[in-house]
Amino acid sequence: MKTIALSLAFALLGALAVFLIYAWSPEELEAIEPPQAESFDPALVARGAELAALGNCLTCHQSEGGEPFAGGYAVQTPVGAIYGSNITPDPETGIGRWSEAAFVRSMHEGLDREGRHLFPAYPYTHFSIVPDEDARAIYAYLMTRRPVRNEVPDPELPFPLNVRALQAGWKLLFFEGPEPATPDPDDRLARGRHLVEGLGHCGACHTPRNLLMAESDDDYLQGAHAAGWYNPPLAGEVDAPAPWTAEEMTAYLTGGFADAHGVAAGPMAEVAGKLARAPRDDVAAMAEYVVSLQTGPSETASPDAAPAEIETGETGAERSAKRRLGETLYRSACLRCHTPSGQEASGTAAGSSQGLPLASSTALFAPEGTNLAQFILHGVQPPEGETGWPMPGFASLLTDEQIAAIAAYLREDLVGRPAWEEFADTLADARGGKTAN
Ligand code: HEC
Ligand code: HEC
Ligand code: HEC
Repeated sequence: MKTIALSLAFALLGALAVFLIYAWSPEELEAIEPPQAESFDPALVARGAELAALGNCLTCHQSEGGEPFAGGYAVQTPVGAIYGSNITPDPETGIGRWSEAAFVRSMHEGLDREGRHLFPAYPYTHFSIVPDEDARAIYAYLMTRRPVRNEVPDPELPFPLNVRALQAGWKLLFFEGPEPATPDPDDRLARGRHLVEGLGHCGACHTPRNLLMAESDDDYLQGAHAAGWYNPPLAGEVDAPAPWTAEEMTAYLTGGFADAHGVAAGPMAEVAGKLARAPRDDVAAMAEYVVSLQTGPSETASPDAAPAEIETGETGAERSAKRRLGETLYRSACLRCHTPSGQEASGTAAGSSQGLPLASSTALFAPEGTNLAQFILHGVQPPEGETGWPMPGFASLLTDEQIAAIAAYLREDLVGRPAWEEFADTLADARGGKTAN
């Protein structure tokens, strides 16, 4: 009975998909002669540059060592890599033949000029609220970049996920359609919210996704995983042991560092690197909105929380041997840069060799050790082209056992929380993963 019902359900779904494909194949928009760069108003182009920085377009549209906006960067999803397209005005391999209308439609509806569905790895589900005039400014900016000939690989998705037409079904389920809006410029929170939800697409990393990769509205900005990193919650109770202020978050988002919270690393370093070039007031409005969603440190992160009862399967002797090892390694490998809180103030990442006192690091209060593993294995490099003190990666210097001992010592003795149970697995995953910024 069950199997019959199940195959019926599948047959129905299949029929629905076929119907949808026939019922809704979006129209192809006409190809144009690539417009001359001089035909665009320089003020519009300049505004477009700011908006592209807010939207972090470059990160996904430039491969390592590749030309700006020429594409080829692999956006890693749990089902495979999807490559950012070539969005330079090259007529053959880029968007040179796209009209302004085709470009605006792509941001609002996730369609290419020919009317093919794009994958939501392109955050059009967020860009769909960007007002037309902003999308037009970004178009002017992109169409005045240097055209670069670069063929981008097809998405590496297994069949049938690679069938673009099936995205029609995904959109039906999870995409509410374009709702471009311009918030009241005098209402700062509304402006910040619009930027966070729209162009800034913070939820693309900080909101958890369901099995079909759609962001879960119920868990808006509640923290998620992507590309080997844990993206901490931004709303409600957060992992940071000290409450965020809007000023500090603005500094973090524009400079990649906040005194009381430390560094923006990994994928967040990319975001901050681009926001550094966006209008500071826009970023400040985003920070004010994000901070307004926060209620402060979570119970486990709060410094007032009583140190947790620490229970492990280990015998007392095993545990104390591990902690002694962890403490010794911490003293020799970490302490010279990360003095304990209360001593010397930590400088900025760019200004001094001092790291953050580790007891202030969000990474130590997170429910899992993913980001600590990333930091220890791969270190921290200052943003490309900028000076600053790096943290060396310890991947080839310390064994997994040694790193686990440091992590257990930092959790249990430095911040009084139970060691992460799954840390060995976390570490193995992070070893296989890519480097921190
Ligand atoms: C998180 C990564 C990411 C960000 C950020 C991003 N894109 Fe993309 N974009 C992609 C991916 C991946 C694709 C290809 C999707 C596909 O193949 O279906 C894409 C496709 C596109 C396309 C379609 C091009 C074509 O030839 O079909 C346009 C236009 C585009 N992006 C513009 C932008 C703009 C403008 C911004 C910034 C406001 C931006 N993207 C930010 C990942 C991103
Ligand atoms: C590409 C993925 C990605 C995007 C997009 C992204 N973040 Fe993050 N974010 C991360 C990761 C990963 C971390 C953890 C990095 C670290 O600890 O250095 C992080 C950390 C943060 C933190 C520090 C949290 C804490 O308590 O320590 C803040 C604040 C933050 N992000 C804000 C934002 C805002 C605002 C946006 C949108 C403008 C945004 N992020 C977009 C990946 C992302
Ligand atoms: C040569 C100096 C140096 C050494 C040695 C060093 N670090 Fe760092 N570390 C830094 C700098 C600089 C940063 C980036 C600025 C910051 O966040 O403090 C950093 C960042 C971090 C962070 C992120 C803090 C945050 O911002 O949330 C963690 C966690 C960390 N280090 C752990 C360690 C551990 C564990 C060790 C020893 C195994 C270690 N570091 C050794 C310099 C160092």
